Amino acid sequence: MKIIEVENYQEMSKQAAQYIIEKIKKQPKLKLGLATGGTPVGLYQKLIEDHRENGTDYYDVTTFNLDEYIGLQGTDPNSYRYFMNDQLFDHINIQKENTFIPSGVKEDSEQEAKDYEATIKSYGGIDLQILGIGQNGHIGFNEPGTSFESATHIVQLATSTREANARYFARMEDVPTKAITMGIGTIMKSKEILLLISGDSKTEAFNRLVNGEIDPHFPASILRKHPGVTVIADQAARLGVK
Ligand code: F6R
Repeated sequence: MKIIEVENYQEMSKQAAQYIIEKIKKQPKLKLGLATGGTPVGLYQKLIEDHRENGTDYYDVTTFNLDEYIGLQGTDPNSYRYFMNDQLFDHINIQKENTFIPSGVKEDSEQEAKDYEATIKSYGGIDLQILGIGQNGHIGFNEPGTSFESATHIVQLATSTREANARYFARMEDVPTKAITMGIGTIMKSKEILLLISGDSKTEAFNRLVNGEIDPHFPASILRKHPGVTVIADQAARLGVK
C-alpha cells in the first residue's frame, strides 16, 4: 500500500485529479470506478476545471459507481445518480450511456445486483477504482462484517452510516435503510485502487487502515492485500489535527 501524504483537502483533490488525468491520457478507454460522498467532491471539481482548461477527453471513458440507495430514482437529488450527474458527468464530455450506477429502483434488486456485477465483467473489469472510507472502515456500502469475497449485493445500512449521511437529507427518517453496493470482492478485482482520506473524523480509520489487523470488522483493511493500492491522506486524517 503506497501512502501519499498531503497537507490538506485541496492538495488531496489536486493530486487525485492528476493521477486520474495521467491514466486517461495513457488509456483513453479507461474503466474508472467512482465514489460519491463528501470526499471526492473536490476531486471532481478539479477534473472539471482541467477538462475546461486542457480538454482532457472522456468520450471513450466508462465509469462504474460503487453504490446507490434503494428506493431513490435517479432524478431524486439525494440519489447517487443525481449526485454524479451534478458533480461530474454534466460538466465533462463523457457519454452518459457509458456511466454505470446500480439502479435503486428495479423491482428485483437482487437481480439488479447480479446484472451490475455481470456488466462490470463484460467490460473487462475496472482499471482504477476511486474509494472514500467510512469512519467504521466501510468501503462502498460494505459495512463491518461483510465477507471479503462479496459481489454486488443489497445491504441494510448501519445506523452510524445513515447518521453520517443524514446531513444530505431533510430528516433522518428520509435516509434510506437499504442500498445496493459493489461487494468487497468486486472492489478487490479492480486492477488499481486510489483511496482518498481527509479530515480529523477519519484519523482512527486511517490508523486502522494502515496499522490494524486485516479483519472483516474493518472492511477497508483487506485493501492491504491488494497489490495496487495508493492512499492519498491529508494531515488531519493522518495526525488528527484540524
Ligand atoms: C460512496 C461510498 C462510501 C463513502 C464513505 C465516506 O460512494 O461508497 O463508502 O466513500 O461513506 O463518505 P464521505 O466521503 O462522505 O466521508
